[in-house]
Amino acid sequence: MKTTATVVLALSLAAPAVIAALEDPPPQHVKWMKESAELQDRIRNGQDVQASARRMEALYKEVEAFWAKRNSEVAVKACRDIQAAAAKVAAGDAGAGRAIGAGCRSCHDQHREKISDTVYKIK
Ligand code: HEC
Repeated sequence: MKTTATVVLALSLAAPAVIAALEDPPPQHVKWMKESAELQDRIRNGQDVQASARRMEALYKEVEAFWAKRNSEVAVKACRDIQAAAAKVAAGDAGAGRAIGAGCRSCHDQHREKISDTVYKIK
């Protein structure tokens, strides 16, 4: 019983903090993300692979600078991993495409909150 009470108390304290931390992304961030999805599709479908991978690499340098200011190691590492993987894809290593997706996921798990199919926030 004591444990249950502690857990309930911990949850009731933690939940409002999580909600309060949700933020609307700046329009530039949403733009980066929408472009990321387009580039990722092109790379997966084998269209303009080299140019798309180069653009992905440049884009995640900018995204990295945004997240570096927010002091998130997970986010910065994900951006660096994507840049490294995109550089490999641009150099002809198609298998590195999976590592791009892994970078997207690791940051989304930590920092993306899905509100609806069209609305996402930063957490
Ligand atoms: C450094 C963290 C980070 C990385 C890396 C990242 N994302 Fe995101 N992404 C977010 C956050 C935070 C949101 C929610 C805020 C927003 O929409 O801008 C998001 C939202 C999105 C959305 C929804 C955009 C919208 O608002 O409609 C898409 C699509 C997306 N990401 C695709 C990708 C793809 C594809 C990759 C990998 C190539 C990727 N992201 C890598 C943090 C990241």
